[in-house]
Amino acid sequence: MTRYFATCARGLEPLLARELASLNAQQVEVGRGGVAFAGERSLLYRCCLWLRTAIRVLQPILEADVHSPDELYDAVRSLDWSRWMTPEQTLAVDCNVRDSALTHSQYAARRVKDAICDQFRERTGRRPSVDTQQPMIALNLHVAKNHAILSLDGSWVSLHKRGYRPIQTIAPLNEALAAGLLLQVAWDGSTPLVDPLCGSGTFPIEGAWIALNRAPGLTRKWFPFQAWRDFDRPVWNALRDEARTAMAKKLSVPLVGSDVRQDVVDLAQNNARAAGVGHLIQFTTNDVRQARPPCETPGVVMCNPPYGERIGEEKELASLYRCISAVARKYWPRWKWVIFTGNPRLAKLVDLPVIRKTPFFNGSLECHLWEFQA
Ligand SMILES: C[S@@+](CC[C@H](N)C(=O)[O-])C[C@H]1O[C@@H](n2cnc3c(N)ncnc32)[C@H](O)[C@@H]1O
Repeated sequence: MTRYFATCARGLEPLLARELASLNAQQVEVGRGGVAFAGERSLLYRCCLWLRTAIRVLQPILEADVHSPDELYDAVRSLDWSRWMTPEQTLAVDCNVRDSALTHSQYAARRVKDAICDQFRERTGRRPSVDTQQPMIALNLHVAKNHAILSLDGSWVSLHKRGYRPIQTIAPLNEALAAGLLLQVAWDGSTPLVDPLCGSGTFPIEGAWIALNRAPGLTRKWFPFQAWRDFDRPVWNALRDEARTAMAKKLSVPLVGSDVRQDVVDLAQNNARAAGVGHLIQFTTNDVRQARPPCETPGVVMCNPPYGERIGEEKELASLYRCISAVARKYWPRWKWVIFTGNPRLAKLVDLPVIRKTPFFNGSLECHLWEFQA
């Protein structure tokens, strides 16, 4: 069995742990910003295909206390790199450092690369070249309090980049976070889902993928592990076939997205089409004040209204939050309203019974998911 570590945005760890358990991961342990677990190699493939809330899936191969770039170099060079790669393969190193004697992440990454290349040059006369776009061996170096963990990175390009959202709008939600928030409220596709401030459409699109049981990594053309020495192509192909077969084609409930801005709705529609679910989501241009339930069966309204980072904006937004609350009360009885916001003062203007409030990080900003009963 191999030990792995899947990283995620802070707050998502318990949800990621649940996803891992459902993939039959062993020894699942929630950490800060990620979850440690163990399993066979095929589990790594499964994780890259199926995890909705993870950012990357790492296989730690070295742990060492390092107090200088030279100590890091020596530690990396002490490994026998021919175990994992050949000098003909390409390589890239991503690094983050925190509270350590090593302060420059780019320099630390360079020392790792130098150590590997020097070892190959000395032993074979050849050395791997660097490819940061599509490396065959992607490495992740994490140094905190002078403790370094070097890992093989199974995904390199973050797993939240599903490939359906090429253009960024104002403040789109990270796809992995949006999926995690839907999992947090246990939305599983059996009740209607509406986002009346949908922006680029992340909630309805991630919702459609959850409801269809669509593996988020299925559209990804390439993962670094496909170039690893132990890559098992038949197993990978079988897992992809299994994922395709597991996917439903239709939704049993309405999925709706609307926004006051026509250009934003157009964008959401394009994103949904790129995600293969354009025909399954009803998009309209509408002010949230005019939003009405799409059917009699109650479901979930999930949104992240603007929360104003500049002074002055908050006053205007106060009226928006009050209106949301009034509309929910008047027109959406028995629906659950779920609001993700970084501004607790605005959230408190929503005059509905609070079921639960959970913290999540949106980048470096602490936000909360507020669950209300309309
Ligand atoms: C923070 S963004 C939502 C981002 C979205 N979750 C995404 O992933 O792209 C807030 C959205 O609320 C929309 N909005 C602001 N006021 C609105 C209103 N009165 N009615 C409907 N939408 C509104 C904005 O146009 C913007 O797209």
